[in-house]
Amino acid sequence: MAPLYTGPVSVGVTPSSLKSNDSCWCGSGRKYKRCHKQSQAPVRRGRLSPTRAVPEGIVRPDYAETGDPGTWIEPLVRPPEVIEAVRRASRAAAEVLAVVGAAVRPGITTDELDALAHEECIARGGYPSPLNYNGFPKSLCTSVNEVICHGIPDDRALVDGDIVNLDVTIYLDGVHGDTNATFLVGEVDEESRRLVQVTYECLMEGIAAVRPGQPISDVGAAIEAHARAGGYGVVRAFVGHGVARRFHGPPHVPHHYDPSATTVMQPGMTFTIEPMITLGTWRHVMWDDDWTAVTADKRRTAQFEHTLLVTDSGAEILTVAG
Ligand code: MF3
Ligand code: CO
Ligand code: CO
Repeated sequence: MAPLYTGPVSVGVTPSSLKSNDSCWCGSGRKYKRCHKQSQAPVRRGRLSPTRAVPEGIVRPDYAETGDPGTWIEPLVRPPEVIEAVRRASRAAAEVLAVVGAAVRPGITTDELDALAHEECIARGGYPSPLNYNGFPKSLCTSVNEVICHGIPDDRALVDGDIVNLDVTIYLDGVHGDTNATFLVGEVDEESRRLVQVTYECLMEGIAAVRPGQPISDVGAAIEAHARAGGYGVVRAFVGHGVARRFHGPPHVPHHYDPSATTVMQPGMTFTIEPMITLGTWRHVMWDDDWTAVTADKRRTAQFEHTLLVTDSGAEILTVAG
């Protein structure tokens, strides 16, 4: 018979006597590893592989050389040919995300996932947008457990029970397509699985709130309402963004209710919605690599992202595989 855990239960502390296949201390009757077990070790900075090369024939954004994306202006309502290009880039991004996501398993390193994302972008004739964007050193963002976003792929192997967000952006036909999803690594505890599920629901609630003529603050209002109902936090420091010729441009798309987000949605706009939802605090701490953002309380966080086109009646999701 499985040993009973009888001591006090404090959040975030693993009862040390329990093994993965024992019944969980909470009385659910499920195996501990499928219920409340979480890998407790905080994510640490790892080693980076050498910079990956992009073949000569691939058209690059200007920042590929300089690191500086600049801040030029493009119309929020995109011209038809730009919309078609964003459609193609978004489809390619979704395909790459599906391929890289299918490779997630215990033991694979985030650097190996980066290599795959890099190759898959190039195989589609595109440039992996993160590479040298403001100096970002890799082709994919990999954000594990308490990492909110912009995790840098390194030699850390994924561990059974982790959750990992993969954020793919490709530059193709002169525009970017941007999408991400959070994947489960092996057997993931119930609390984390619920977090990932609710985060996906938050993205879909945000998308459902897209309607021409309405302020873009409606998106965050819908997301925040769903997150709060479940007792979750909404990260404020990172927002959705316009995406077309520029990787990140206006409008800002807050994921919480921000009445100052007054941009009126109009058909022909393209932007992302990419809520980051937390088990605990929505506040973040930045690592000294100036990229990796983690929750201030080190509790887990998840994210999903789509690139959208505002239509006459709502939103079309562009980051879907063909
Ligand atoms: N893809 C991320 C987003 O959703 C941005 C990554 S920027 C990078 O906006 F430099 F970290 F790659
Ligand atoms: Co984005
Ligand atoms: Co992204």
